[in-house]
Amino acid sequence: MNILLLGSGGREHAFAHSIAKSNKCSQLFIAPGNPGTLQLGINVPIATTDFAAIKSFALENEIKMIIVGPEAPLVEGIYDFVVNDAELRHIPVIGPSKIGAQLEGSKAFSKAFMMRHQVPTAAYAEFTMATLNEGLAYLSQQTPPIVLKADGLAAGKGVLICSSIDEAKDEFKQMLDGKFGDASAKVVIEEFMDGIEFSVFVLTDGKDYKILPTAKDYKRIGEADTGLNTGGMGAVSPPPFVTDDMMKTVEDTIIKPTIQGFQKDGIVYIGFVYVGLMYLKTGEIKVVEYNCRMGDPETEAVFPRWKNDIIEVFQSTVEGRLSNVDIDIDERAATTIILASGGYPEDFEKGKAITGIDEIKDSIVFHCGTKLIEDDKGQGILVSNGGRVLAVTSLHVDWKSALAISNKNASIIQYEAKYYRKDIGFDL
Ligand code: AMP
Ligand code: GLY
Repeated sequence: MNILLLGSGGREHAFAHSIAKSNKCSQLFIAPGNPGTLQLGINVPIATTDFAAIKSFALENEIKMIIVGPEAPLVEGIYDFVVNDAELRHIPVIGPSKIGAQLEGSKAFSKAFMMRHQVPTAAYAEFTMATLNEGLAYLSQQTPPIVLKADGLAAGKGVLICSSIDEAKDEFKQMLDGKFGDASAKVVIEEFMDGIEFSVFVLTDGKDYKILPTAKDYKRIGEADTGLNTGGMGAVSPPPFVTDDMMKTVEDTIIKPTIQGFQKDGIVYIGFVYVGLMYLKTGEIKVVEYNCRMGDPETEAVFPRWKNDIIEVFQSTVEGRLSNVDIDIDERAATTIILASGGYPEDFEKGKAITGIDEIKDSIVFHCGTKLIEDDKGQGILVSNGGRVLAVTSLHVDWKSALAISNKNASIIQYEAKYYRKDIGFDL
C-alpha cells in the first residue's frame, strides 16, 4: 500500500527507515521529508499542517495510511480532519484525535487528566491574568525550586525552573504578560521533582496497548547537563537503571490508568503516547509530561531496536487487533548522538557542507536538519540546515559499547562548527 508520513526530522527519518523495511509498503511518501528520507521514499513539498494539500495528495496518490511524526498537525486536528471528510475517512491515521493531542497541547489539560485518573504526577495549580493575585499568593506558599510551565506549545522552551520565590513571581508575571505568546496566557505552577528522568513509549488503539523500549534523552546543550534546553542531544535505549519492577509499577500505576482514562473520557487515541517520567529519589515514579507522538531523538534509538514489520503493527492497531501483536525487540542497546550546529539552541549558521557519512558502516546516520543543494557544476552537495543536523545511532551489547561506536563515527562526519556532546550516558 501507499503510505504518507508527515514530518521532516530525525524522528521521521527513523520512521521511514522502519517503514521502508515493511513488506506491506509499496510506496512511501514523506511530506516534507529531508535528504535522509529521500533515500527511502519520495519527498513531497507539503507542510505537515497544510491539510487541504495533504487531502489532494492523498486522494491523487491512493494513500492507504497516514503516519504523523510531529505534534503540530496532531494538535491542529489532522485526525479529525480526515475522519470528518467523506472522501478521506477510509484512510487510517496513526496519531490521536485533536482532543487526545491536548495531552501535549495543553499542560493544564494533561494535569487535569492525570488528576482525574489518579496518574501520579507533581502537585500543581493553574492561573491566568484574571487570577494573577491568587497565583502570586500561591507562589508565596511554595518551597523553591518552583516549576512554571506555559500551558500551550512553546517549542520546548515553555518550562522554567526558578530557584527563589521572587524569581518565580517575576517570571510568572512575564509569562502571563505574553513571554511565550498565547502559549503562556495560562500558566501551570508545579512542585519540583528531584530525580532522574526516563521515557516510556506506548502504542495504543485507545483500548489495548503495547509498550515499546524505554529511552533516556539528554536535553541540555552542555556536557554534564548544563546550559540551555534543546530538542535533545542524544539518547540511550534502554536506560540501564530501569528495572522490570519499575516497569511493572509504570504499567500498573501510569500506563493502565492513562489508557483507561481515554476510554472513560471518550478520547479517541490511535497512536503513540510518550510518557516522560521522573524516578524520584524517594523511589516513586511520577509523570513529568505526556507527548502525543514519539520523541526526537528517542525514536532514533528506539526504532532501530524494534524488529516487527511496523506497518503490520499499525494495521493491527487501526483494526483493533493490537492485543494479538507480539512486540519483537532487539536485545542490544542503542545509543544515539546528535550532531548539532555550533551556537544551537541559540543563533547558528546553516549551509555548511557535510562530508564523511558514506564512510560510516557500523552506525545508522539519520538526517535531522540537512538539505541538498547544487554546486556550480550541478553536483548535489549535502549541507546543514538546522540546529540539530544528524543523529548517529549504534547498536551493541550494552549502551557503553554502542556509545563508543557512535562517538567514533561522530568524529568522522565533518562540517564547519560541528558540535556534539561527548558525555551522553554520563549519569548512568
Ligand atoms: P516538560 O516540557 O513538561 O517535559 O518539561 C521540560 C523539562 O523540564 C522536563 O524534561 C524536566 O527536565 C523539567 N521538568 C518539568 N517539570 C518538572 C518538575 N515538576 N520537576 C522537575 N523538573 C521538571
Ligand atoms: N526529546 C524530547 C521530545 O521529543 O520531546
